[in-house]
Amino acid sequence: MNSQLLSPDPNCVESSGPHPKADPCVFVVFGAAGDLTKRLLIPAIYNLIEANLLSENFAIIGIARADKDSEQFRKDLTEDLGKYATRAVAPEKWEKIKNNIHYIQGNFDDQHIYQKLAEKLPEVDKAVDAKGNVLFYLATGADYFASIVHRLAEAGLTQEVDGKWRRVIVEKPFGEDLQSAKALNASLLSSLQESQIYRIDHYLGKETVQNILVFRFANGLIEPLWNNRYIDHVQITVSEVVGVENRGNFYDNAGALRDMVPNHLLQLLTMTAIEPPTSFAADSVRNEKAKVLQCLRPIEGDDIVLHAVRGQYGAGKIKGESVSGYRQSQKVRPDSNTETYVAMKFNIENWRWAGVPFYIRTGKALPQKRSEIVVTFKKAPISLFQQADCSNVRSNQVIINIQPEEGISISLDAKIPGPNIAISPVKMTFDYKQYFGQAVNTGYETLLYDCMIGDATLFQRGDTAELGWQAIDNVLDYWKHSRQKDFPNYAAGSSGPKASDDLLSRDGRYWKSLS
Ligand code: BG6
Repeated sequence: MNSQLLSPDPNCVESSGPHPKADPCVFVVFGAAGDLTKRLLIPAIYNLIEANLLSENFAIIGIARADKDSEQFRKDLTEDLGKYATRAVAPEKWEKIKNNIHYIQGNFDDQHIYQKLAEKLPEVDKAVDAKGNVLFYLATGADYFASIVHRLAEAGLTQEVDGKWRRVIVEKPFGEDLQSAKALNASLLSSLQESQIYRIDHYLGKETVQNILVFRFANGLIEPLWNNRYIDHVQITVSEVVGVENRGNFYDNAGALRDMVPNHLLQLLTMTAIEPPTSFAADSVRNEKAKVLQCLRPIEGDDIVLHAVRGQYGAGKIKGESVSGYRQSQKVRPDSNTETYVAMKFNIENWRWAGVPFYIRTGKALPQKRSEIVVTFKKAPISLFQQADCSNVRSNQVIINIQPEEGISISLDAKIPGPNIAISPVKMTFDYKQYFGQAVNTGYETLLYDCMIGDATLFQRGDTAELGWQAIDNVLDYWKHSRQKDFPNYAAGSSGPKASDDLLSRDGRYWKSLS
């Protein structure tokens, strides 16, 4: 993990010194004409140049079906960077890279493009002295992951000889259920070593997500309280205002559970619940993450209905604007049974967390874009303030804001000034922007840099990707085979289906308000 990207103001923080530049390499992007490349990957590469972290021995080869040549590709990327860069682009800095951008046109299942790539790579490598290192980024539809890797291997492009590395970043979705994730892992591992595979989850590139580990393990104050003696329950929310947009094709087959839970939501849960690793080396952290997932109580039998809630939005209003229902979206079946909202209850059966439920929820067309982790503490054992108006007394909470605001706040009770004892909740807040200045990264910088230096800490290992699917597999299967008769069961702009509130109220708890 790269703390330089985390700490823009070296005066404010203890720094471990300047970070070395990433290794020289050629960055080969499959899906180079797609949204991910232009909106996130190229702006992230540019930010690495600005942070002085990208090697000068660097070139890009884009591969896509779109009919264009290298010159046109350079022009397009330059124009896109103008639109999507997260900071002002210095032309002289971009120009250096731009001259080392190349394009290969073709279909990913056409063996010719791999031959072309095999011819092009040494030439491009030589021009920038990339030392034979190649980072392949699969920014394509998931159907292509296995076959691209297989063809790269057939063309001899994945072999690591004489210290030259070959690494592959695989985007999500990593499979569509446990069985397909296992098959994908097996297929990738027939051509690559596990150490060459970087399964990306962009949530792990977010500053505040990485900060969870620092918050917990760099502060002596927090960790002694971070367990079932003091914590009542944890709520993890990823709510989105957007609906399905133009992704009906993908989304109507995926649904919110597949799209968000085995990856983003369970990553957040794991970071919240993980035991202190023996070091921050990739495998120490990933071993501990795997243990959390292994301890999730399987959701089976009656719990499938009791602990997992699905919702689908109907027409409604968001921020005063009318929004049509999910079933009216493009490329969505008019009688679709796909969920756009999920809420679940997980139990982690280990010494630290036994008895502390972790509730998660995520959905589209909700009133606010917000990702946060709310850790609610048990109440004080006795109330000394019975004469006071205690109607406002609540449990203390630690709220880890992931987006749009990034920071951490702690809610406490305080005495309202005056002669009587009256109590009111107050908040202590740490805001990233206020403290460290405007965040200007896309979230992919750390992940790309880490891959270029061979640090896999923030990437999913094969076993954790499978464990994520395993945690939801019974629910996926049940939902696939049963129609939810009351769909659509929440209006766009509302906080989700009533059953989601019931999930908590049955336990005497309630969700933090979304509006
Ligand atoms: C993606 C999902 O992985 O994450 C999208 O496929 C979702 O459906 C997105 O909108 C959310 O990411 P973020 O960073 O905007 O919270």
